[in-house]
Amino acid sequence: MGRVSATGNPGSAAGSSLVITGIGELVTNDPGRRRPHDPPDLARLGIVRDAAVVIEAGRVVWVGERSELDGAGADVRIDAEGASVVPGFVDAHAHLVFAGDRAAEFAARMTGVPYAAGGIRTTVAATRAADDRTLRSTTARLVAEMLRQGTTTVEIKSGYGLTTLDESRSLVVAGEFTTETTFLGAHVVAPEFTAALDPVADYVALVTGEMLDACAPHARWVDVFCERGAFDADAARAVLRAGMARGLAPRVHANQLGPGPGVQVAAEVGAASADHCTHLDDADVAALADAGVVATLLPGAELSTRSPYPDARRLLAAGVTVALATDCNPGSSYTSSMPLCIALAVIAMRMTPAEALWSATAGGARSLRREDIGVLAPGARGDLVILDAPSHVHLAYRPGVPLARRVVRGGITAV
Ligand code: NIG
Ligand code: FE
Repeated sequence: MGRVSATGNPGSAAGSSLVITGIGELVTNDPGRRRPHDPPDLARLGIVRDAAVVIEAGRVVWVGERSELDGAGADVRIDAEGASVVPGFVDAHAHLVFAGDRAAEFAARMTGVPYAAGGIRTTVAATRAADDRTLRSTTARLVAEMLRQGTTTVEIKSGYGLTTLDESRSLVVAGEFTTETTFLGAHVVAPEFTAALDPVADYVALVTGEMLDACAPHARWVDVFCERGAFDADAARAVLRAGMARGLAPRVHANQLGPGPGVQVAAEVGAASADHCTHLDDADVAALADAGVVATLLPGAELSTRSPYPDARRLLAAGVTVALATDCNPGSSYTSSMPLCIALAVIAMRMTPAEALWSATAGGARSLRREDIGVLAPGARGDLVILDAPSHVHLAYRPGVPLARRVVRGGITAV
């Protein structure tokens, strides 16, 4: 490893430099930094002890042991005082553009009323009635809430508008906060179609026609809720193929509420990710592994709907890449907390703390087909979290505790 001089570059924030020293444990997720004596899950984290990181113009330019770092000049210096530093969390599944809440539905559920896809329509009505300013401020509040907890990249879906205008304005708002925007016009069949002779066919024609025309310029991804009560395999294929023809990359809400064809459709179209994956059979697990589809698990949804958790161990044993995300939405999972999802993955789903952290960072990056995030190595974005803890294990060991002491995004201290 070369010695570098971390001299500063005073001036604009974009050109400024940041040096973090005093890092007790640095999680890099860099495959080049696997320590030979670590068990495989820990080795994958590429841990460096007594480390330092240098970020210039928003990008990591140097990572290594503090003793290797030459020179001290930088616009900003932070002493982590022995803390653990991890890559910023990558939340690859969130529904943040909506209005209203469903606290009453949640309270009823806690008395035994089951969760059903139809609750989405309550939020659709509130979202349609809200002006852009309201949608923007709700989204901004949730993105800020996420950032405070260490999330430096979030994917944001439409899906609570379900008209051409409401879906496209939802995506315009989403695009103000992230480049990872997802067109989810096929969340459920819009309420005004339910009286039609063939509601699904008629609504899919809208989603794949005029609505896609208006939304494609504002989205990177296309998604569909492939589930009983939402869209079947044929409808899901039609939506994904139409989006792909317009340059959108596919991802799928799959096998959440029961067994179904979602995962197979995701594998068939080469989706980046199949999300939820709660009810899988052996063929589904094999399809994910063979097609290289990331399984993005959303334990906040199982927690908040009192459902069985997905079998992460089975997926990992089959060689499937697992990501963790919040699914933040007002119905099934109104949490913005990646640390909570890590804790659930470890405590309830039997992932190791190292596996869960990798899945919440590098795994999320794979789910979004990004190589510049979820890793701390030269060239990566300067996105990281200084924990109020000496080890990443505390993220699961101390559930519910706010452990993000400082959050750096693009080399700027954001929190
Ligand atoms: O991912 N599954 C579909 N969509 C959301 C739930 C949306 C809602 O209930 O409002 C989910 O869990
Ligand atoms: Fe979702």
